[in-house]
Amino acid sequence: MSIMDTVYDKARGKRMRIVLPEGTEERTLKAAEAIVKQGLADVILLGNAQAIEKAAKGLDLSAVTVIDPSADARHRPYAQKLYELRKAKGMTPEQADGLMNDEMYFGVMMVKMDEADGMVAGAVHSTGETLRPALQIIKTAPGISVVSSCFIMELPGKDYGDSGVLIFGDCAVNPAPTADELAAIALSSAGTGKALAGLEPRVAMLSFSTKGSAKHELVDKVAEATRIAKEAAPGLQIDGELQADAALVESVARLKAPGSTVAGKANVLVFPDLQSGNIGYKLVQRLAGAEAIGPILQGIAKPVNDLSRGCSVEDIVNVVAITAVQAQA
Ligand code: ACO
Repeated sequence: MSIMDTVYDKARGKRMRIVLPEGTEERTLKAAEAIVKQGLADVILLGNAQAIEKAAKGLDLSAVTVIDPSADARHRPYAQKLYELRKAKGMTPEQADGLMNDEMYFGVMMVKMDEADGMVAGAVHSTGETLRPALQIIKTAPGISVVSSCFIMELPGKDYGDSGVLIFGDCAVNPAPTADELAAIALSSAGTGKALAGLEPRVAMLSFSTKGSAKHELVDKVAEATRIAKEAAPGLQIDGELQADAALVESVARLKAPGSTVAGKANVLVFPDLQSGNIGYKLVQRLAGAEAIGPILQGIAKPVNDLSRGCSVEDIVNVVAITAVQAQA
């Protein structure tokens, strides 16, 4: 059974309400039909009802809820709430009212106000356009200082991680995390591994040094992040700083990090910055033929996920199922 089969089963276990703000987009509409048909989530599409109906010709969207942000009764109370949330940042009531005509902001407000459990967008909008409203309005989960991302990597071989399954974080959001942010990325990645892939997390904080083998301020940052994460989650199996071979290979771990409960058997790899994380996951995907599921956003108080603009209908269905399982947790 693949990870996505498990995610689909979990999603069906408790139906969550997922809002898709790009309601007139063709792949999104096909995905909405498939999601409801497969019982993965209840879908809310945002947009002008006539425009959605026209774009959805031939699809059965009878079980999908359609909301037009500019005509909906929630427009005014949402605008008022948005103004209250953002007035300290200089937002005026007029600006808040205008933003409630924007499906991306309306969708995020639905999640914020508990009228949806999660949001998925990005088939049309860029990563920044998708993330910014969520970062501004939903904010981080309690105790987590940054929103970050991870990939579930499914390797063709079973030698590393948990039978070939590993979590890689952060590969998509934070270009240059501080030690505190790196610790948050570690905690969030461990949580995602547990919730979505059923892993008992063993977290390796990666570096070009293992346990002081090299001296550099970048190494110090990873060691400090490890200390902060251990303090925040004393029950979590986490160790660092570790080189990738020491994290993954038992024989190397025995030499470089003897006594570590994580080295040699890590199933969550935390990269020290976005350059290494983004390059790392793409190398493993391309050179090792791994399936890379993600990026999965984590650390937001309520789940919002970003699609690639090149996504397929199946990609959208997968990300909605992932978002639904995050919302259950
Ligand atoms: N966690 C929590 N909050 C954040 C984060 C974060 N990681 N980043 C920004 N914010 C908050 C800010 O505090 C700010 O809040 P405020 O307005 O209440 O003060 C708000 O979000 C907007 O902040 P900006 O600094 O204006 O954020 P920006 O517009 O730069 O967008 C973004 C943030 C989009 C995540 C940016 O950091 C980014 O572009 N990251 C890299 C994305 C990327 O290119 N990834 C690689 C490709 S993806 C792939 O290959 C799979």
